[in-house]
Amino acid sequence: MTQPTEAQGPSELNEPKELAAPKGFDLARLLAERGAERYELHGKYVNPQLPRMLHTIGFDKFYERAEGAYFWDADGNDYLDMLAGFGVMGLGRHHPVVRKALHDVLDASLADLTRFDCQPLPGLLAEQLLKHSPHLDRVFFGNSGTEAVETALKFARYATGRGRILYASHAFHGLTTGSLSVNGEDSFRDGFAPLLPDTAIPLGDLDALERELKKGDVAGFVVEPIQGKGVHETPPGFLRAAQELLHKHKALLIADEVQTGMGRTGRFYAYQHEEGVEPDLVCVAKALSGGYVPVSATLGKDWIFKKVYSSMDRVLVHSASFGANAQAMAAGLAVLSVMENDKTVENARRTGGLLKQRLADLIPKYELLHDVRGQGLMIGIEFGRPSSLKLRSRWTMLQAARKGLFAQMVVVPLLQKHRILTQVSGDFLEVIKLIPPLVVGEREVDRFVDAFTAVMDDAHGGGGLMWDFGKTLVKQAVANR
Ligand SMILES: Cc1ncc(COP(=O)(O)O)c(C=O)c1O
Repeated sequence: MTQPTEAQGPSELNEPKELAAPKGFDLARLLAERGAERYELHGKYVNPQLPRMLHTIGFDKFYERAEGAYFWDADGNDYLDMLAGFGVMGLGRHHPVVRKALHDVLDASLADLTRFDCQPLPGLLAEQLLKHSPHLDRVFFGNSGTEAVETALKFARYATGRGRILYASHAFHGLTTGSLSVNGEDSFRDGFAPLLPDTAIPLGDLDALERELKKGDVAGFVVEPIQGKGVHETPPGFLRAAQELLHKHKALLIADEVQTGMGRTGRFYAYQHEEGVEPDLVCVAKALSGGYVPVSATLGKDWIFKKVYSSMDRVLVHSASFGANAQAMAAGLAVLSVMENDKTVENARRTGGLLKQRLADLIPKYELLHDVRGQGLMIGIEFGRPSSLKLRSRWTMLQAARKGLFAQMVVVPLLQKHRILTQVSGDFLEVIKLIPPLVVGEREVDRFVDAFTAVMDDAHGGGGLMWDFGKTLVKQAVANR
């Protein structure tokens, strides 16, 4: 390092310098030159099964641009996004206010992540976020949904001095080892044992909950108010009653709102659909940064945080190197501001209600369509055994090969024919989940319902390409056994 020369006085050194044009790295050029290799590169260096799966179902598109609830491919075709990047794009892609906040925070050249100061943005974001759950006092910022859950599990264990966590069957709380220990699906857990000594109870079963609580070693119960896998709602009154039981046995209620939070279900948090529910810890992530920057927040009561951070020695006992970084915080503040100004939660409630109703109206018309459920813009469409003989034999053939193939048969033409991206809501489930960006309106509802109706007409016609594709899926399922 050289000393400043006389000509370069200290004040000159302190002046922020214009950033020189970047040398040696040109993102636009890189994408133009190598973008076409995307599937090959991914297969070679990242997850080999992803491109394989995408090629098989014809999802291997070249999306070039995105805005709001739409993507465009290189030929200029628009695709309606009913998946929102697994729920992270709450405000749709590239929301101008969030985007500007990110440009601004980069241009501000903040002294971020010094780690031995307090920056203004984390406190400001915590203040704004806590307004939506007034019974909670403090926030830990991390980087992903699973980290929000890990934080809650650790805090619950430390605050109660107990080791066991209860969770609901079929729950999904993330895939790191702690959150895997509270995952309700064997397909995710198999081969990763030993996990933590946590215990599943059937969703909605208060007797099972109390039986476990009576053993006296339970730190808390972690629950999604609406389960992401299969879109199953907790029964009315369950969360309130569970909370009472938990508190009676000195254990904590942990609401995992990673997917259901930030307005997704037509309330800011899904636990707020039920009167009197005040979870001790709330996990937030996904849509908090508008999909731009990985971020998470674990909200909790003051006494829990004070126990975990009980002395100066323990100041870093739970921390994350990138936690509360300026980009994530600025994006989070911008998202909350947009949500308030644009009444995003109300839109989720209204548009979601309309979509659910229009889909439910189709149930009497289509024997394969059994249920439409969910809240706000988190909707599950469940298919089931048809009544007519003709369709039943085809359905049985699919079920014998593998559960979930019919839902896959619906998802594929929705994309291929109608350019709408959806997902099957979990392995072996005959359920499609719709979690579009919360900015969709009547136009998107019309487009989805028209497309879905056309796909259902094809399926109930009994012949044609759709069932031929079903046969291909059956062959693959059998070959994969
Ligand atoms: C309810 C719930 N919790 C936790 C997670 C994990 O979040 P992440 O993928 O950001 O780790 C998810 C992800 O889908 C989720 O739906």
